[in-house]
Amino acid sequence: MSREVRTIGVVGLGAMGAGIAQLAVEAGLETVGHELELSRGEQARERIAHFLTRKVEKGTLAAGDRDAAIARLRLTDDLASLAECDVVIEAAFEDLAVKHQVFGALERIVAPDAILAANTSALSVTEIASVLVRPERAVGMHFFNPAPLMPLVEIVRAERTATDVAATAHALGERLGKTPIDCFDTPGFVVNRVLIPLLNDCVRVLDEASVSPRDLDAGLERGAGWPMGPCALLDLVGVDVHVHAGEALYEKLREPRMAPPPRLVRMLKAGKLGRKSGEGFYTYD
Ligand code: 3HC
Repeated sequence: MSREVRTIGVVGLGAMGAGIAQLAVEAGLETVGHELELSRGEQARERIAHFLTRKVEKGTLAAGDRDAAIARLRLTDDLASLAECDVVIEAAFEDLAVKHQVFGALERIVAPDAILAANTSALSVTEIASVLVRPERAVGMHFFNPAPLMPLVEIVRAERTATDVAATAHALGERLGKTPIDCFDTPGFVVNRVLIPLLNDCVRVLDEASVSPRDLDAGLERGAGWPMGPCALLDLVGVDVHVHAGEALYEKLREPRMAPPPRLVRMLKAGKLGRKSGEGFYTYD
């Protein structure tokens, strides 16, 4: 049995958090967005307003509905403002210590039956939930980048996740317009378990076959029907995010294909993170 959700919180309003907040306000949910600095929260609001305005310009959203959606987003730099949330989705920095700090703090603030959802690429939801007094309230909700456009959300049941908590997260995923798939808390869950070694293989092929990023991307787009090539995808996801996820999966599974190839590690060290830094495999304005 799923529970009613009226208000949701989003902790961390980077690309993923802003995308999740956009989905929530578009779905009619009162949304409290938390950022450490309000100026970064304002940037997220501008990003959401930009994408909703594009929809208005393209005739897929009424201007009044855009304004109402934007008005449903309340920004805060104080976690205590999330006290009324039925579900809080954390999209904070991908680091276990940070997630522990956020979950531990949230549990002291939210209602006893509020749900805490982790949007993590490769960390264990069970480990994230281990700091909670009531770990049965924790679940994984793994969105894909860009969250407003990618139709999937993985609903990850951790070791102690309560059945109604997983059901509520699943129903929330549907309400946000996504196709939820349910899985256990295994390294990489479903998609990243497959996608991360695949993208690593693609990067290894760059050097092995001496093919340019542009030609490799054309290869996978034209020859395998990918919507965008692997190099463009790595630039979109962020080399830092991908390397971190690959290292986390390698640590757990010890499969060599999971470990990020040296070329990606070099890019990370050089600050070539993809779109977010203006340069990755490609350059961006
Ligand atoms: N947020 C909100 N809206 C956005 C957006 C964003 N980030 N980006 C684009 N849009 C909107 C824009 O308004 C745009 O229209 P406009 O250009 O007229 O303003 C509209 O969406 C369509 O944009 P595009 O023309 O760029 O859309 P495409 O049809 O080219 O599709 C795509 C873009 C959905 C990204 C497609 O290329 C795709 O599916 N790529 C693969 C992405 C993928 O595989 N993601 C998963 C990565 S793995 C992951 O996330 C896991 C994690 O744990 C690492």
